[in-house]
Amino acid sequence: MDYKILENKRGIIFGALDDSSIAWKVAEQAHKAGAKFTLTNAPVAMRMGKIKDLAESCGTIVIPADATSTEDIENLYKESMEYLGGKIDFVLHSIGMSPNVRKGRDYLDLNYDWLLKTLDISALSLHKVVQVGVKNEALSEWASVVALTYIAAQRSFPGYGDMAEAKSTLESLTRSLGYHIGTKHNIRINTISQSPTWTTAGSGVPGFDKFFNYADQMSPLGNASADECADFCLMMFSDYTRKITMQNLFHDGGFSFTGVSQAIMDKI
Ligand SMILES: NC(=O)c1ccc[n+]([C@@H]2O[C@H](COP(=O)([O-])OP(=O)(O)OC[C@H]3O[C@@H](n4cnc5c(N)ncnc54)[C@H](O)[C@@H]3O)[C@@H](O)[C@H]2O)c1
Repeated sequence: MDYKILENKRGIIFGALDDSSIAWKVAEQAHKAGAKFTLTNAPVAMRMGKIKDLAESCGTIVIPADATSTEDIENLYKESMEYLGGKIDFVLHSIGMSPNVRKGRDYLDLNYDWLLKTLDISALSLHKVVQVGVKNEALSEWASVVALTYIAAQRSFPGYGDMAEAKSTLESLTRSLGYHIGTKHNIRINTISQSPTWTTAGSGVPGFDKFFNYADQMSPLGNASADECADFCLMMFSDYTRKITMQNLFHDGGFSFTGVSQAIMDKI
């Protein structure tokens, strides 16, 4: 979609690793929509990913930051504001990682240090991004923060492991933060609960192909793609959604409200 709905907006986009990443699609589309932004990812991801190619095609820079480090986030805001020439109007939090899932730990054999790491990276980082942004007066009035989540926050999905706890926490933080940053600063924050999507993080979930196909056949409109998720993120960053805050917004082709579909019934 070629509307310049983010003209004159400045943003920070976390989480583009490769061209399958949802954040990658958001960056490409935000660029087309007229936004100026910086890209960021964990220093270790810089080596693995191709984020510098993305920065080049979007005419911007990459500022490495571990989203669990307050110091890194402070520096990220400082450098972003210097580069972009003002306060930040939108932030995409597109970050997820679970050592327990990655290393195939059974849910009844969780490594608790790893669980804390999962929560720190995938959920508490959102609080840090917002808290640091507000404390440093780096977020503009009516700024929009969007974080990506999954329906395992509400329902159990066996292969999703302790990421379910991270997503529940992420959504809870969104409600709590939304109150405080709304009343004090007129800043909004929401989560988008996205369909299963073929990315590095997504395909790390055991049995992802079946998981993906099941959701696709359960959803009246089929799974939402990463590009469609990017469209939705852009709308949430734009001025068209200024009074939407504290919400968990399902972007899943109707999966979340479907009991069963004929396609699934036919397979039983
Ligand atoms: N792919 C799916 O099926 C799906 C569905 C719903 C929600 N989501 C969510 O979408 C978001 C983006 O994931 P994706 O699917 O695009 O996969 P992805 O693997 O491309 O993105 C995850 C990103 O998190 C980054 N990251 C990990 N640790 C970090 C740290 N300490 N500091 C900063 N960044 C760090 C990674 O480097 C990577 O860029 C995640 O929150 C994920 O849970 C994904």
